[in-house]
Formats: sequence, structure tokens, C-alpha cells
Amino acid sequence: MTTDSVPHLLATPNGPFVTTTPVVLRTATEVMSEHGEPMTWSFGPPTRVDVDTALCRCGRSDEKPFCDGTHAEADWRSTDTVSSASADERTLRLAGTGVTLLDDESLCMHAGLCGTARTSVWSMLEETDDSEVRGSMIRMTLGCPSGRLTAEVDGARIEPALPAEVHVVPGGPLWLTGGVAVTVEGHDTLEAANRRTLCRCGASGSMPLCDGTHGEIDFDAGGLGR
Ligand code: FES
Repeated sequence: MTTDSVPHLLATPNGPFVTTTPVVLRTATEVMSEHGEPMTWSFGPPTRVDVDTALCRCGRSDEKPFCDGTHAEADWRSTDTVSSASADERTLRLAGTGVTLLDDESLCMHAGLCGTARTSVWSMLEETDDSEVRGSMIRMTLGCPSGRLTAEVDGARIEPALPAEVHVVPGGPLWLTGGVAVTVEGHDTLEAANRRTLCRCGASGSMPLCDGTHGEIDFDAGGLGR
């Protein structure tokens, strides 16, 4: 894939995300256990949208995930910030047995796939001399949508194979996968990432990224089609 063909979103100041290439949208829903623990993701059918499609990020549109212009009436402010530190500089490297857990907390959106009621990837790291625990821990990092958590084995990062698409998470962010690029207007394009979550509720404290605030404000938004 050439740089020109990488799907790309522009975060406009105090306005929506705008596609600067055609983009595939798809709903992504967390699959929950009977105990209310998120386990994995289920994906809806694809919808292709064209260049200049505006996606709501103030959380107020009646046409979500699309923008209907309400941000202007509401005088919503995007307060975008872009970290001056590189991903490598932000990332903690936590050593286990046969695996290193890479942890960039600044990206966290609290999806919760990193743990259950009984354990978490950080607890499991202490038991990675057991290959079964090690494998389970690595699989849990693959479900992290924001890219906060990555496992590294023998110097190689273990990343999930994800298509270059934009996923609409009901009640949550836009989840960008497969290297979809993001430029915050007035700043450089963000570092390339296989996984990234963007706020669409309008209330994140680290815009344009999602920081999990949608869960505190009961953001009521469906996936595609609502
Ligand atoms: S969608 Fe706004 S904080 Fe997650």
C-alpha cells in the first residue's frame, strides 16, 4: 500500500473528523462474558464512504456517526493536544519470562480487554514462566483497541492483523485499525499506528484520542445506522 492510498482522517478544529481519502466504516462491538467482562470484538458489515465525509466528534449529532453540523450551534471546542514525546519515549517496557509487555498508558481508553474479575495482563506477566499464561497474556494484548498494550517476543512486536478501516464502537470511540492515518489540523500527522481510538463523544480529556470518558457520561450512540 502506498502512502497516498492509506486511509486518512483530518481532525478539524472544533469540528468533525473529515475523510481525506475513501474509508471503510464498520461497527465493532465488544463481546461480553456472562460476568460482564469484555472478551473480544464482533464486526459488522462494511460501508465505504467517500472523501470529505464528516464524522461527528462533538457527540451531539443526530446522524451519528456522521456530522450534522450541531457542533457549531453548540459552540463545541475540540481542545486537541498532540504529544511531543514519541511512542517509544512514552512506553514502559515490562519484562516477563519470554515476553515483554509494552505499555503506553497515555493511549488507554479503558476498553477492559486487558483483564477479568480475577486477573489482568500485569498480574499474568508475573506468571509468564508458564507458557499457557504467557500465551493468554499475549492474546489479551491483541484485543486492546487503543494500542496501549503490545507484547514483544524476541524483539518483535506481536500486532493483530487488522484491515485499514474505521470502526464505530457503540457508546464509544472511533477505532482506527491497520494504519489509518490521522492529521490534527495545524499539527503533523500522528505517528503511524496499527490501533488507535479517537473520541467521538466530545468529552475526552486528551482529544483527539479517546480516554474512556464516554463511559462516565453514558454516551448514548449506536454503531452505523444510528
Ligand atoms: S469517545 Fe469520547 S472519551 Fe471515548
